[in-house]
Amino acid sequence: MNARMQMMQGMMHLEAPTPTEQAALLEYLQKYATRPIDRSAYPDLHEPAGRSFRSVCSQCHALPDPRQHTARQWPKVVERMKRNMLAMGKGVPGDAETKAITEFLQRHARTAN
Ligand code: HEC
Repeated sequence: MNARMQMMQGMMHLEAPTPTEQAALLEYLQKYATRPIDRSAYPDLHEPAGRSFRSVCSQCHALPDPRQHTARQWPKVVERMKRNMLAMGKGVPGDAETKAITEFLQRHARTAN
């Protein structure tokens, strides 16, 4: 699983993945990359920050569980996701929306390391 993940991350460093690569990547992501969120556990998914998180972060894979990372880790993951969005031709959220999403993730982040 880790080796495959590294391979997929390597692919993302290519400037423009071919359609075949993109399809393989998306299939992989749907299966393994993220632990999907239990939506019923997060009533604030219906508030503005939660709505941004839902629409931006479910475009390529299942909406991820905020407890997958700590509050310190999330900003780096979000920045990497913005690069993924650029590479895959998706719209990238602006600063205010990025901040709202990051804060939503941090509010619900895993506490232990
Ligand atoms: C343009 C498509 C795309 C969008 C939109 C996207 N992701 Fe991802 N995501 C990926 C790709 C590609 C990977 C696997 C490679 C990687 O980890 O960078 C991934 C992997 C992940 C992972 C598993 C790897 C890890 O570091 O834990 C998490 C968690 C994640 N994304 C969270 C998010 C969040 C949060 C958002 C919204 C800010 C988001 N993603 C939006 C493409 C996307």
